[in-house]
Formats: sequence, C-alpha cells, structure tokens
Amino acid sequence: MKIERFNSYQQLSEAAAEFVIGRLQADRSTMLCAATGGSPTGMYRSLAVRGPEIDTKKLRVLKLDEWYGLPMDHPGTCETYLNKHLIGPMQIEASNYISFNSEAPDAEDECRRIEEQIQRQGPIDICILGIGLNGHLALNEPAESLQYGVHSAVLAESSKQHPMIAGSGVDITHGLTLGMGDIMASKTIVLLVNGPSKKTIFNRLLEKQISTRLPASLLWLHPDAHCFYSEQ
Ligand code: PGA
Repeated sequence: MKIERFNSYQQLSEAAAEFVIGRLQADRSTMLCAATGGSPTGMYRSLAVRGPEIDTKKLRVLKLDEWYGLPMDHPGTCETYLNKHLIGPMQIEASNYISFNSEAPDAEDECRRIEEQIQRQGPIDICILGIGLNGHLALNEPAESLQYGVHSAVLAESSKQHPMIAGSGVDITHGLTLGMGDIMASKTIVLLVNGPSKKTIFNRLLEKQISTRLPASLLWLHPDAHCFYSEQ
C-alpha cells in the first residue's frame, strides 16, 4: 500500500478525486464501490465538480455497506448519503447502481443477492474505503477471523456510536457488508484516513502487522492500494 500524506482534508480530497478521475478516464466502463461516512465526502464533492470530465453513463456504483434495519429513507442510511453525495450529483443511472436494501426481510437473502451481483458484474475496479476507529473496513469488524464474502455483521460497540446512526433512535445491531474477499479482489483500493481521531489507528496501520484484529492491515497485501492521509 502506498501512503500519501496531506496537510488538509481539502487537499486529501482533491488528490483522491484526481486519482479516481484518472482511473475512470482510462477505463470506459468501471465499477466503483463506494464507502460512506465523513472520510469520502470531500472526495465525492470534488468528483461531482469534475463530473463532466467523466463518462458517468458507463459508471456503475456499488454501495459498500449498510446499517441493517434503519429505514432506507432515514437520514442516517448509507443509501441517503450516497444519493446525496454521489448518485445524485454524478447522475448515476438507477440500472447502474447496486445497493443493499436496509429493510430486506431476510439479511442472508439480501447478502446473497448482492454477492450474485458482484459475481455477475465484478470485479470491482475501484474500491473507496474509510477506516473505522477500531480498524474495521466496511463493517468487517476486528475478530479472530474475517469473512470472505458479503455477509450480515454484528456491529462492534464503536460502530454503533458512528455519527451516521448515533441518535437515530433505532437500535441497530447488524450491518450488511462486503466481505474482505470482495474488497481484496478489487483491482484498485483507495483508503481515505483523516482527522485527529484517526491518528492512533493510522499509526497502528503503519506498523505493518497483518492481523484480523486490524482488518485494514490486510490492505498491505493488496497490489494496488493507495492510502490518502491527513491528520487534520
Ligand atoms: P468515517 O467512518 O469516514 O465517518 O470516519 C469510517 C468508518 O467507520 O468505517
């Protein structure tokens, strides 16, 4: 994994957008897997501004994860976030958007549905990721072992405190998420890490100790992973 450091979130976001645009321009039909949360918002904003430079008709977007049980139109869902920051501004066609249903009656069936879509349309070309305060990637939480494929994950306590769902009034215990195998099979990975709260976990990542207790550490094994870091 290549680490690039920036002095501000704005610089990080613009550099990451520049990198992604370069890849999108080189590849006519691309599957972009999109994280949500605070980390990628600035990058999506830059991408939206530069949207005309990309042929978005061919761009397919896959939602990385979702809070299970939160109504789809709740302001805290990954769905609401992506519609606001990526799908809407980039005018992604509905038929080019693959997305977990947070209200699916059966979580396992929903995971199977998304896994089938990835198998049919994948692999992911560019996977945008943030890192959790506990080192998780998507909702692959630190554990003795990690799951390969799309699955329903028991949320770690720190994930239940994530700003997207804290105060939602809904008791969310599980997330629907791509597995580590899905993520690692992506051709290119962009990991965005910013803010003083991420300093400790970033320093742990820099130790290059590969451990399922730090899911993000597996990215050191990926042949084309790029980490954009800003302490601010
Ligand atoms: P954040 O979330 O980008 O809002 O910090 C990342 C995560 O918890 O995976």
